[in-house]
Amino acid sequence: MIDLTLFDVVKVTAGLCGVYIIVLFGWRLYFHPLARFPGPKLAALTLWYETYFDVFLGGQYFKEIDRLHTLYGPIVRISPNELHIKDPDWFTELYPAGNNRRRDKYAWFLSEGTDATSSATVHHHLHRQRRATYAPSFSKQAIVGHEQALIAPAIEGICETLDQYVSQRKPVVLGTAFASITIDVVLQIWYGAPAGQPQRWPWFPKWNNPLPTLLGASHALRHFPQLFNLLALPSSWFKNIPDVSFLLNLQEASNSLAASAIQAKKPNVLRRVHSSALPTMERSPERLAAEGFSFVMAAVESTAQTVASIMYHLADNPPILRELRGQLDRMMEECRGELAWNDLEQLRYLRHIVMEGMRVTASVTGRLARVAPDETLTYGTWVIPPGTPVSMDHHFTHLNASIFEDPTRFDPLRWQKATDEGSSLDRYLIPFGRGSRMCIGINVAKAVIYRTIAEMVLRYDMELYETTREDVDIVRDNLMGATKAGSQGVRMILSKREEKEIVNPVH
Ligand code: HEM
Repeated sequence: MIDLTLFDVVKVTAGLCGVYIIVLFGWRLYFHPLARFPGPKLAALTLWYETYFDVFLGGQYFKEIDRLHTLYGPIVRISPNELHIKDPDWFTELYPAGNNRRRDKYAWFLSEGTDATSSATVHHHLHRQRRATYAPSFSKQAIVGHEQALIAPAIEGICETLDQYVSQRKPVVLGTAFASITIDVVLQIWYGAPAGQPQRWPWFPKWNNPLPTLLGASHALRHFPQLFNLLALPSSWFKNIPDVSFLLNLQEASNSLAASAIQAKKPNVLRRVHSSALPTMERSPERLAAEGFSFVMAAVESTAQTVASIMYHLADNPPILRELRGQLDRMMEECRGELAWNDLEQLRYLRHIVMEGMRVTASVTGRLARVAPDETLTYGTWVIPPGTPVSMDHHFTHLNASIFEDPTRFDPLRWQKATDEGSSLDRYLIPFGRGSRMCIGINVAKAVIYRTIAEMVLRYDMELYETTREDVDIVRDNLMGATKAGSQGVRMILSKREEKEIVNPVH
């Protein structure tokens, strides 16, 4: 019988761990299928490289990846198992549309802890099946058809609250106001909730941009999945943490609407899918409630941040604001006062403002990694083995100086200039992603963005309140881009427009 002391056991365990680490590192460096791809050795050896930038420095790996591209070229091994490609013309390869070329999500990258929702579905075919059931409710035709009943009252509801700020000359945090509009619209579509409720939701105007902070937790959850166990604790324990209580309130409201959706008077997605021919698991009320809430979460920060950022750029560029207002005034006279997204989108100047706002905001910072499980992708002379997670960069494409001259400048005219010069920049504008997993809410988002901007510009004069470019520029990746820590968001003092200042067109 071998007589081992505790010290011996520690020594043997440490030795075995050492051997394991040496073998693992040796394999990752010399024998791994990605061993020959360029990139820093440390990132090839261990995920801790990414952990350091994303968890300890707070969403900074997206910038580090961009720096690595300047050192190693357009294709870089950014972690033991993942490649990253920086090439604005390669998006359609990695993110093809349709059914034929399978693209799974990278399971490790999803930090949601469940695959009950389509945005967190790993497998291509299950994702296609789920998405096909919701897509009709989010088509352009569906949104245009219901726009006046769906979106107009939500914006009207918020404007009623904004009018109170006007009379008190109190600064408004635009992001929170606009977030309430999208929440209202998505709750109507998913659960048949009554229209025009946003001013009655408990979170506006009380909460102050909690989502960027909460989304920041996604890095920690991805790198330390044990933290998901915290979600099993009673939610009442978290009620006193302001940001978390916002989320819990929102989830409670969403769940209680989900519970009554099947009996709701208004048609809604939950009821339609629940009574469809999908397998029972797929149409269970619990899964559909989770899916509905995932739509709310996907919709709220992205759209609000975009509109708030565009409003910032308008307030910061008075000649552009004046010109837009003049064009909108003339349009309102022609359409006798009824706004419609289709008409607004025809207004070229506004269209270019929205495009430029989305470009310069560059709000999608998450890597959106994809896996081609049964296809060998090639990039130049590089052959990428099937099953390899590959990601690309939406944020820095929007800010790429070789595509967009002086990229951080808000310049709506650049789009027209490119067309006049016989080129088009449109294919490099990818705020909603690309391919089979691109944003399903694109039509809701656009209708809300166009209509909210038009309403704000037509109704209010605006003055920035203690807000600078730092309050809109993205400096952290929390899946959605986030501004500097401690930013209070875009704040404005609004006043009612007394007279229309119809100006002569300058463009
Ligand atoms: C300006 C506003 C918005 C932006 C920039 C945006 C951006 C995106 C992007 C880039 C993706 C793709 C993610 C991926 O490939 O993994 C996405 C997916 C998604 N978005 Fe949006 N989004 C916006 C508004 C909305 C709205 C209003 C809704 C809800 C009505 C919504 C619901 C979703 C959903 C459910 C997905 C997952 C789709 C799927 O996996 O099939 N988004 N969004």
